[in-house]
Amino acid sequence: MTPGQIYKRLLGYAQKYWPAFLLAVLGMAIIAGTEAGFAWLMKPMLDGSFVEKDPVIIKWIPFALLLIVLVRGIAGFVSSYGMAYVGRNIIRDMRRQMFSQLMHLPTAYYDKNSSARLTSKLIYDVGMVAQAATGAVTIIIRDTFTIFGLMFMMFYTSWKLALVFMILAPVITLLVVSVSKRFRRISQRIQASMGDVTQISQEITEGHRVIKMFGGIEVEEKHFSRINEDNRRQNMKLETTRAVSVQISQLLGACGLAVILYFATSEEMLKNLTVGTFMQFLTASMLLLAPMKRLTMVQATVQQGIAAAQSVFELLDEDEERNTGTKEIKRAKGKVEFRNVVFSYDSDEDREKGQAKGEVLSNINFIAEAGETIALVGRSGSGKSTLASLLPRFYDVTEGEILLDGVPVQELTMENLREQIALVSQDITLFNDTITKNIAYGALAEMSEEDILRAAEAAHALEFIRELPDGFDTVIGDKGVLLSGGQRQRIAIARALLKNAPLLILDEATSALDTESERNIQEALGGLMKNRTTLVIAHRLSTVEDADKILVLHDGCIVESGTHQELLTVNGKYAALYKVQFSDDLEQSE
Ligand SMILES: Nc1ncnc2c1ncn2[C@@H]1O[C@H](COP(=O)(O)OP(=O)(O)OP(=O)(O)O)[C@@H](O)[C@H]1O
Ligand SMILES: [Mg+2]
Repeated sequence: MTPGQIYKRLLGYAQKYWPAFLLAVLGMAIIAGTEAGFAWLMKPMLDGSFVEKDPVIIKWIPFALLLIVLVRGIAGFVSSYGMAYVGRNIIRDMRRQMFSQLMHLPTAYYDKNSSARLTSKLIYDVGMVAQAATGAVTIIIRDTFTIFGLMFMMFYTSWKLALVFMILAPVITLLVVSVSKRFRRISQRIQASMGDVTQISQEITEGHRVIKMFGGIEVEEKHFSRINEDNRRQNMKLETTRAVSVQISQLLGACGLAVILYFATSEEMLKNLTVGTFMQFLTASMLLLAPMKRLTMVQATVQQGIAAAQSVFELLDEDEERNTGTKEIKRAKGKVEFRNVVFSYDSDEDREKGQAKGEVLSNINFIAEAGETIALVGRSGSGKSTLASLLPRFYDVTEGEILLDGVPVQELTMENLREQIALVSQDITLFNDTITKNIAYGALAEMSEEDILRAAEAAHALEFIRELPDGFDTVIGDKGVLLSGGQRQRIAIARALLKNAPLLILDEATSALDTESERNIQEALGGLMKNRTTLVIAHRLSTVEDADKILVLHDGCIVESGTHQELLTVNGKYAALYKVQFSDDLEQSE
């Protein structure tokens, strides 16, 4: 994106608030006018009061001065308020858009981008746009007006001297342009380093136990120092460039003044100039210095804003999940079919770069009739969770088809498809809220208290919830840290049960539980699983013995399938796995 395109897009956001914007611009024009008016006042003040001693002028000069300041004050308020109004509204709109975009991005985007970098975009980058959109834009518009107003005054007073001053214009433009480019480059680096700062902060807050246990304190401190130092260095570069450029622009202004003084005091000029006219001109050119300085200085903020806006727009332009399906089923019967499904995590980009890792699932074929329980077993990394994540379309298949009740899942709307599925995933997500809110999350918030109670009971969570100080109203901490691993799993199971969807996916849902609790839940689930299709993933084979069909996955292929008895008779991979576990269990119970 070129800076031009970014300006245009930002302007698009401002369009909605054009009345406030116009009012603010009007205020700025008035401010500029008062500045020129102040310079103009020099002539009647000096020539009228001191040289000609005109009594009328002597009387009204103080009032005129006061009036100018008063008008300037009101205009100043209007312009500040107006710009802040526009700016803050843009920021709110932008944040809302980013937030909504984040929730519609495909899972693969999250795999590739750290959550810390995304947080930094939402907080730091948007803040930078805000600064540029309010403060910087005000300065740019107001000071440009002011410069034009003062230049007008100067031409009006003495066009010859004004022309001399104009020689400076191209030099200053050149300075501003070359400095801007540098500002933008540095700003991009500062943004990246802010992302790094959030990243490492997040890692040390989340991983503080590992850091303490594995002697990571020193390493992390060194790592952070490096990032922190880089951030400091980039900011120093920005400030140095800003300071140097301001001084250069000041120097240029002073050169202009000197040249003017030189010419103005030449004999020929002195003949035509009164003291008042000369002071009028001189005041105007001196008043020019401040806006010139501010305009050069503000470039840094503007360029930071542009670099930040670019990073924001990049996020907004990411492709959303492909939600092109149009069909809806009310409540699926629950027949699931995988037809020649091939899947790889590689994106087209990876393939172009030659970083493709290849297929994770190849040629997967199976049918789960409505109401059946299908178990997926296999070694760690064989692709079980991957297979399960294709059904709710966290990822789309690379080849082949997945059908729900005979309809390809892509043809259903994303919302409708996901309504049909309840999922307990391998890593559980809980929110820093009460137990009730965690079980009845999102669309489930409407559920009655009785339903929530029943779901908690079926998940065998009721027993421990009752013992908590506030029962169902206990807040469970960030990611549920105040609960044990097994308790967290039971909350997640309760949530899935409450959803009462025709498809249930349990990915190692009871892995953190003791054998007895697991058996209890199994019994409770047994009843619930009767009228829904269930996909169970488990390492503990004793939990899947009763499944209608067991699929054995190996390196992304289904190598065996059948009931527990059938697979034992085949005496293949499943039988081998089973024997190992069975003898382990025997040993343990001895
Ligand atoms: N988000 C991802 N991006 C890229 N590759 C992935 C991703 N998730 C998993 N993989 C890879 O896909 C393969 C299968 O992983 P998967 O999580 O499906 O295994 P699994 O059978 O569920 O293992 P486990 O029993 O340990 O949970 C692994 O080799 C893993 O490295
Ligand atoms: Mg897994």
